[in-house]
Amino acid sequence: MTQNAKVIGTGGYLPEEIRTNEHISETVDTSDSWIFERTGIRNRRIAAEHETTSSMAEIAARQAIEMAGIEADEIDLIIVATGTPENVYPGTGCVLQHRLGIKKGVAFDIQAACSGSIFGLDMANNYIKSGAAKTVLVVGTEINSRITDWTDRGTCILFGDGAGAVLLQASDESGVLSTHIHSDGQYEDLLNCPNPQASTSDDTSGYISMKGNEVFKVAVNTLGRIVDETLAANNMQKSDIDWLVPHQANIRIIAATAKKLKMSMDHVVVTVEEQGNTSSASVLLAFNEAVRDGRIQRGQTVLLEAFGAGFTWGAALIRY
Ligand code: UT7
Repeated sequence: MTQNAKVIGTGGYLPEEIRTNEHISETVDTSDSWIFERTGIRNRRIAAEHETTSSMAEIAARQAIEMAGIEADEIDLIIVATGTPENVYPGTGCVLQHRLGIKKGVAFDIQAACSGSIFGLDMANNYIKSGAAKTVLVVGTEINSRITDWTDRGTCILFGDGAGAVLLQASDESGVLSTHIHSDGQYEDLLNCPNPQASTSDDTSGYISMKGNEVFKVAVNTLGRIVDETLAANNMQKSDIDWLVPHQANIRIIAATAKKLKMSMDHVVVTVEEQGNTSSASVLLAFNEAVRDGRIQRGQTVLLEAFGAGFTWGAALIRY
């Protein structure tokens, strides 16, 4: 019988250093009020020099494992989503596998920018449903501060560092109801970060480059469509969703999606004010926060969604 991918644990990690809007205003022409009004962000976390995407992933993963009450070596698939891997290879997934002391199964990375954890959930769900994996760890982990141009006020106000994790296991109980992922590569010019060592681009900075305003418009429209697609695929009404756990890029994008769902902001998990945009980590960090503080309860229906470079976008509907 086909098994469901049940959420059995979540975890999250944020580095200690807090960079405030005031700190950023000291070096670029911006202000706390501009940043907060246009983005909803006040603070973001910055990884310490010794930290890496795999060291942060390990902390988030261990929390998820502890919550699930399983042994790490029960995990037979590790999927790490990151746009800021510490190595070109080996993949962060393999480094994490070793850090967790796991010697069996398989680990690999996926690159879908800010949609990475939704793409990871999609893969985890399909591996579990097909019977190819039983216990799957999905981690989104990013050190965006190292690919941020701290002199570019259009981007340096937005991003932060962190890691989020979720453990899924084959179960007869409810779990992931559906996942929906998409991409359209025609938008590379609007949001990109070329790898200076491998790219033929003239831009050899290694920094994020974004036409924010244009990205914003596509993001709002696209996320509206993915919400409709997810509800239709599950024969559900907007009112059937208990919690929206959105990618945390901008409070105005989050509010537009909530409006589309006719959902009060009380049922939307928002971390953007304190964390900024942690790319692939953001949805799992928000999910972890709301599970751990008791907002998200067993049996509730949770819609996770994200949009990012590529463009990539997607949603996962979970009966927690
Ligand atoms: O996670 C991946 C997906 N990424 C996103 O979803 C990000 C989407 N984009 C955004 O969140 C927003 O577009 C931004 C927050 C990046 C920018 O907000 P905006 O309301 O779209 O502003 P804008 O780019 O249209 O710029 C408006 C004005 C411009 O000045 P002029 O030309 O009107 O004189 C900018 O130069 O604001 C200026 N500006 C700033 N002013 C103060 C741009 N950045 C700043 C800044 N501080 N940091």
